[in-house]
Amino acid sequence: MAGVYIHIPFCRQACHYCNFYFTTSPGNKDKFISALLHEIELSKGYLEGERIETIYFGGGTPSLLSGSELISIVRRLEDHYDLSDLKEFTLEANPDDLSAEKVKEFQGLQSLGLNRFSIGVQSFFDEDLKYMNRAHNSEEAISSIKRVQDAGFKNITIDLIYGTPTMNDQHWLQNLNTAFALGIPHISSYALTVEPKTNLERKIRQGESKPVNEEQAAMQFNILMEEMKKAGYEQYEISNFAKPGKYAIHNSNYWSGKKYLGLGPSAHSYNKVARKWNVANNMSYIQSIEKDIIPAEEEILTKAQQINERIMTALRTMWGLNLAEFEADVMVWIKEDLSVIDPAHYTITANTLTLTNKGRLFADAIAASLFVTEEQFL
Ligand SMILES: C[S@@+](CC[C@H](N)C(=O)[O-])C[C@H]1O[C@@H](n2cnc3c(N)ncnc32)[C@H](O)[C@@H]1O
Ligand code: SF4
Repeated sequence: MAGVYIHIPFCRQACHYCNFYFTTSPGNKDKFISALLHEIELSKGYLEGERIETIYFGGGTPSLLSGSELISIVRRLEDHYDLSDLKEFTLEANPDDLSAEKVKEFQGLQSLGLNRFSIGVQSFFDEDLKYMNRAHNSEEAISSIKRVQDAGFKNITIDLIYGTPTMNDQHWLQNLNTAFALGIPHISSYALTVEPKTNLERKIRQGESKPVNEEQAAMQFNILMEEMKKAGYEQYEISNFAKPGKYAIHNSNYWSGKKYLGLGPSAHSYNKVARKWNVANNMSYIQSIEKDIIPAEEEILTKAQQINERIMTALRTMWGLNLAEFEADVMVWIKEDLSVIDPAHYTITANTLTLTNKGRLFADAIAASLFVTEEQFL
């Protein structure tokens, strides 16, 4: 079983913090869709013999596409891939796109398997949304969720960002309570990250915007973990919370190392041996696909890289890292490295290593200190 990710590289306006690949000029949309349809055909060998378990439209802003454009993409997938076991089909949507007409159009995809929405709320407060340069306001955030729920889509996740200088702890708590009151089964929540080459980075550098306060972000991460627990959500991955059983299948499959195919500019693919990633540029993507060439770079993963990826992703999940899945030497090396880690940051039971709430704050650093090296395999 494998997943398909489709990157839709268009946005209505640029959020100040975002460095995902997108453009705000819709001029090449038709050409992009033709190229994407062709890439689906060109890529069919990548997942040969695999049935597709999940489809994920991400971006960018997939909800900028019309229902009929999305249908043409899914039909092309049906022509070339085995979708008979499709379990989860997610569409990322921005609140400002979810008008009554648009939601009705999206209902037309239910018969093709669409059964999950990921709505980019970020905050239910206008001042945070303005700070982030989001294209929607707090009222639209709430009404869009209700519209999608009323249309019969109960499997919804929303994205929330904490740590913005405009948000105090009280607002953060209110954001979480608003999400709980709306009966949303899954929430992804990220600390605001100042990415290079974004408007946010420039504004902070030029003193136009307050810098992010790391202590405030750490405090709000603690509030997030505590409130989620009280409200009955499981923190099944550092940034992902779900009511029992409502885990995102597509993302969970990334974390457990299953194969996936990424389509569209900047999309990544993984087949257990190598990673590849498409060029992050619409024109280059379109021109190359028109010549029947998928514009991708590829990296064959060494044994050490494969193990390190497994350490990195597994430690972020509540299921943790089962050291017994590695050969004996690797298990010994990881156990040796554990001796330098603060024992308050992890637990180890029957060879399974998991992080405590304290440790989750330092997940990436802890993973990095357990990494194996190429030299160890010489
Ligand atoms: C790339 S966006 C695509 C989804 C959709 N376009 C939207 O804006 O909601 C996926 C999510 O990543 C998160 N994100 C992107 N950049 C971030 C940053 N610099 N800091 C924190 N979260 C970020 C946001 O929560 C966003 O909803
Ligand atoms: S956060 Fe979403 S809407 Fe905003 S620029 Fe990034 S991809 Fe586009």
